[in-house]
Amino acid sequence: MFSKTLLSLVVLAASVAAAVPSVSKRATCSNGKTTANDACCVWFDVLDDIQANLFHGGECGEDAHESLRLTFHDAIAFSPSLTASGQFGGGGADGSIMAHTADEIGDPANLGLDDIIEAQRPFAIKHNVSFGDFIQFAGAVGVSNCNGAPQIAFLAGRSNDSQPAPHGLIPLPTDSSSAILARVKDAGFSAVELVWLLISHTVGAQDKVDDSIPGAPFDSTPSDFDAQFFVETMINGTLVPGNGLHDGEVLSPYPGEFRLQSDFAIARDPNTSCEWQKMISNRANMLARFQQVMKKLSTLGFDQSTLTDCSDVIPVPTGTVRDPFLPAGKSMSDIEAACSSTPFPTLSADSGPVTTIPAVNLDS
Ligand code: HEM
Ligand SMILES: *[C@@H]1O[C@H](CO)[C@@H](O)[C@H](O)[C@H]1NC(C)=O
Ligand SMILES: *[C@@H]1O[C@H](CO)[C@@H](O)[C@H](O)[C@H]1NC(C)=O
Ligand SMILES: *[C@@H]1O[C@H](CO)[C@@H](O)[C@H](O)[C@H]1NC(C)=O
Ligand SMILES: *[C@@H]1O[C@H](CO)[C@@H](O)[C@H](O)[C@H]1NC(C)=O
Repeated sequence: MFSKTLLSLVVLAASVAAAVPSVSKRATCSNGKTTANDACCVWFDVLDDIQANLFHGGECGEDAHESLRLTFHDAIAFSPSLTASGQFGGGGADGSIMAHTADEIGDPANLGLDDIIEAQRPFAIKHNVSFGDFIQFAGAVGVSNCNGAPQIAFLAGRSNDSQPAPHGLIPLPTDSSSAILARVKDAGFSAVELVWLLISHTVGAQDKVDDSIPGAPFDSTPSDFDAQFFVETMINGTLVPGNGLHDGEVLSPYPGEFRLQSDFAIARDPNTSCEWQKMISNRANMLARFQQVMKKLSTLGFDQSTLTDCSDVIPVPTGTVRDPFLPAGKSMSDIEAACSSTPFPTLSADSGPVTTIPAVNLDS
């Protein structure tokens, strides 16, 4: 009896000791929220502030979309090949686009990002967090506001020091798919990872490629984290949505909808077309791949083991989305299937004639 009790005490003590390393930093923050690490508490304050005052009460609107776009433009200006040639190759997700905006906004690829950078910067300064951390946090929170989105990882602890990134490293919509594949390969991303990165365009619109139709979305459901972007980019383009075809734009299938030339090309490139199509047929895979690739993008230039995982601060997204469909007025015969090894999934079309896709409301 005595020895049995002693034994169970020993076992209990051993299991407590074993559990200690993983829970020792578990923290209850001053606002009562709990997180894996007390260093993450500050992010709950940032979360409440930006949901109320940057994302208009938690919307998946233009500011959320631009915040996601900004995560890419800060991070992808990172070139190991430039560094190997003896030049500064950029620091990755280091916040340089916010610290050196006057310089980096001069890169044509960053056209239109000044508004979101200026909107975000005061929040980063107010909460005394690094610009690199803030940009990736805002992008992850913005995504969480979209219906059916995955929860994006957030790692904190990027240094606030940065130098201006070299220009010319961020893909342009006028670039060929092979040029974009080569550029992202230099930054460490494979062809399929490029497709995973472009899942982002399911919650996107353009303002500047054709500035006569600001807010013209890339698919018919720009607040939904669904596969419609991958479906609708494969529909035969037949019309010009704005005041003419601009550089970086190709024909669109619906009035009001906008198709980037680069999305058109990557969707049809044999190196990426089958992965593109896979996004339509397997939603769980699409969500998991976006989580995977965003974690990689958001830590470009940093050693993940030196950062603190604060992913539990990112809200768990809500909302549901429809299964992939063809918007009204099109049929399977309008699909320009591009993957030679696998048939395009059979989709049903909404009834009725082709209708105009409404623009995303521009947040003020
Ligand atoms: C790889 C090649 C890519 C090219 C050439 C490209 C190009 C563009 C262009 C031209 C726009 C429209 C900008 C405007 O006129 O306002 C845009 C919007 C957007 N991009 Fe990309 N992009 C790429 C990849 C990415 C990636 C990897 C992400 C995020 C992970 C991203 C996120 C977005 C989002 C969310 C928008 C919508 C912004 C809004 O609605 O205001 N893009 N992209
Ligand atoms: C980060 O650097 C900027 C200047 O580039 C400065 O305004 C800001 O206060 C710094 N933030 C922190 C947390 O050090
Ligand atoms: C802001 O952050 C910096 C860098 O982490 C730190 O040195 C400084 O003490 C902080 N300032 C305030 C007011 O908390
Ligand atoms: C794309 O595929 C072609 C063959 O279809 C191949 O020759 C080329 O090297 C690939 N390009 C990239 C960047 O993967
Ligand atoms: C796309 O449209 C063009 C002209 O409108 C037509 O010639 C072509 O056959 C169409 N292709 C498909 C796949 O519908």
